[in-house]
Amino acid sequence: MSRESRLESFIHRITAQRACLNYAALLVRGQGGPVIELGLGNGRTYDHLRLLFPDRDIFVFERRIEAHPDCVPDARHAIVGDFRVTMPNALARIGRRAAFIHGDFGSADKVKTAALARWLGPRIVALAAPGAIVATDQVLTAPGLEPIPLPAAVSAGRYFMYRVKPVPVRNRPTPARGRRRVSTRVRAVRPRRRRRRS
Ligand SMILES: C[S@@+](CC[C@H](N)C(=O)[O-])C[C@H]1O[C@@H](n2cnc3c(N)ncnc32)[C@H](O)[C@@H]1O
Repeated sequence: MSRESRLESFIHRITAQRACLNYAALLVRGQGGPVIELGLGNGRTYDHLRLLFPDRDIFVFERRIEAHPDCVPDARHAIVGDFRVTMPNALARIGRRAAFIHGDFGSADKVKTAALARWLGPRIVALAAPGAIVATDQVLTAPGLEPIPLPAAVSAGRYFMYRVKPVPVRNRPTPARGRRRVSTRVRAVRPRRRRRRS
């Protein structure tokens, strides 16, 4: 065959998707926190995530819930509306930064999808814990996201995986009010002047 048919492309994408989800589950094994799914669609990957992460909260963002009836999250975990409206204030609702975020939001409109991916990058970082893993069907670029190697069975460009960089010490949130701050800065110590005797 001279080119990859749409059927073959679909099979390769879905196979890569499953491999990345399985790999992410291994990578975040020791890290607490919920899982986020961006794009419920039919609910296939959501169902897979439920099996991979049976003990975690899985929050799903979706414009309209039209999933298979067996794959519809309950009202607490379904964040319904356009990402651009629902994502900016979502951390308060979720309550904790995510250990894993899966984004499957691409459509046939390549230009719109690329613009959405550019917008989503920093919002994904904002909802992810330091060290969290992100897997997506689109390239993401945002400060704080570093690409990680894909599982061996996945060809480059089929799917994308990132780790959220740990927060540098100087950018860590300040301690809660009321607690004493301990300065770690080293100050030069000036020698005391001796009082002159008159
Ligand atoms: C490819 S489908 C997801 C398929 C799904 N992962 C599955 O396994 O069935 C992409 C989904 O992303 C949703 N989506 C795309 N852009 C969105 C946006 N800006 N806000 C909310 N949902 C969006 C679409 O409504 C669609 O259901």
